Amino acid sequence: MPKEEFKVTPWEVKGEIDYDRLVEKFGTSHITPELLSRMPGADENLFLRRGIFYSHRDLDWLLDNYRRGRHFYLYTGRGPSSSTHLGHMIPWIFTRQLQVMFDAKLYFQMTDDEKFLFKDQLTLEDTSRATYDNMLDIIAVGFDPSKTKIIVDTRDIKSLYTIALRVAKRVTFSTAKAVFGFNNSTNIGSIFYTAIQSAPAFIESEMEGTNVPCLIPCGIDQDPHFRVTRDVAPALGYYKPALIHGKMLPGLSGGKMSSTGDAALYTTDSDAQIRKKIMNAFTGGRSTVEEQRKLGANPDICPVFHHYEFLLEPDDSKLKKTYADCRSGALLCGECKLNLLSKVLPFMQKHRDNREKAKERLDEFMFRSGDD
Ligand code: TYM
Repeated sequence: MPKEEFKVTPWEVKGEIDYDRLVEKFGTSHITPELLSRMPGADENLFLRRGIFYSHRDLDWLLDNYRRGRHFYLYTGRGPSSSTHLGHMIPWIFTRQLQVMFDAKLYFQMTDDEKFLFKDQLTLEDTSRATYDNMLDIIAVGFDPSKTKIIVDTRDIKSLYTIALRVAKRVTFSTAKAVFGFNNSTNIGSIFYTAIQSAPAFIESEMEGTNVPCLIPCGIDQDPHFRVTRDVAPALGYYKPALIHGKMLPGLSGGKMSSTGDAALYTTDSDAQIRKKIMNAFTGGRSTVEEQRKLGANPDICPVFHHYEFLLEPDDSKLKKTYADCRSGALLCGECKLNLLSKVLPFMQKHRDNREKAKERLDEFMFRSGDD
């Protein structure tokens, strides 16, 4: 698939993504070095310093207000359709870092309704199971329970519904079709759904009775929802939520044709499954060892390299060396995969331990409305 044909929507990500073109197409802005310098500790933050979180809407406005003492809250989410993979964890780990950086409150939305509506094969029981499973991963990331509330749509709808209704009344079917590509066979729940994803962007203002700025960290695939949210915000008397967008960690299986979930590493995978996926991964390597030694390989298209870059090699000089050794042919794919495995396995083991502990802690994180 040529670069021009990549696809990024809230429900499908495929092809080799041209992130600069996406900024143009979506009408977002690049995070500039000047903007980065206004975020405390940005140069120690892997995701910011490496441009993994690279695009935004109104982050400058948010930071100006913050400097003047105006606190904001964070809002992010998960559509619980299956187990959590490493790609999902990227915005969550980053959100946790933002929580510390700005001492911010967080609403975490579990859109079990969304996954039920958009995935033909899933029942409400399936999405409910996935919600529980995914919440363990979320808690395992280390959010502060005194500042974090998890909203489960089907459970907490009462607190979202009046906000969602006000949003929905201002979004026409033709806007929903233009933004999301819906047609006459789309079920009507899916058409309404974006109003539910908008609601947490205003929930704190509702609860506080005064406007509170909101920052949404997410993968860039979720931006279309928030274009709608931002469009309706002024008419409803709210601030537009600010956004900070991350790049998508590719799956391990297929180079250019790969979509996000392809051979992804799930937090519920066994070590043996992880090993198998990594050792079978597509790479930017050549077809023979001789060729690779002579001509070098291509880390830019290699999902193994991207796993180092996005998360698993925090040391910039080591990352640079891996890149250079791959290019020169000094590093072969087998060795590089084994190195990755030696980083992934302890990461997953630590996460599994935290996930186990999370089973006892769910209650601390559940959203409570005033009347619960
Ligand atoms: P979902 O469950 O598809 O994804 C959860 C979060 O993970 C991001 N993401 C990725 N980031 C990097 N690499 C990847 N391969 C990758 N795959 C997914 C997504 O962008 C998202 O941030 N509708 C949403 C749930 C939601 C939400 C939100 C997300 C509700 N409110 C507010 C973000 C912000 C969904 O299905 O996400």
